[in-house]
Amino acid sequence: MIGKLNHVAVAVPDLGAAAKVYREIMGATVSGPQALPDHGVTVVFVDVGNTKIELLEPLGDSSPIAKFLESNPTGGMHHLCFEVDDIIAARNRLTEQGARVLGDGEPREGAHGKPVLFLHPKDFTGTLIELEQV
Ligand code: CO
Repeated sequence: MIGKLNHVAVAVPDLGAAAKVYREIMGATVSGPQALPDHGVTVVFVDVGNTKIELLEPLGDSSPIAKFLESNPTGGMHHLCFEVDDIIAARNRLTEQGARVLGDGEPREGAHGKPVLFLHPKDFTGTLIELEQV
């Protein structure tokens, strides 16, 4: 059911500093910052050819990654994003098997303008999973 790994997301306390590490030290191509107020984050994408690294910085007072950064003040891996062909069919299949979808269970528009959902990390070996319909 799941398709390609679309991106690995890393939460960081300072997006500019993190983008600089990837751009200048790692020599990678890094996108410009994109504010996603609905998701409480600002993102940049690092293109590594076979997939992307999504660097996330908190945006606003109720950012969902603020708590994560309290526990991981220097940053850390936050979620994996897999591609699916049909996000509603994928959600229904997963919830029928007992997996929990975060929020109200309905897809929202993600960083690429495509529908996304997040799945509870306790149901996926301790890893927050994002599904993106491509
Ligand atoms: Co993501």
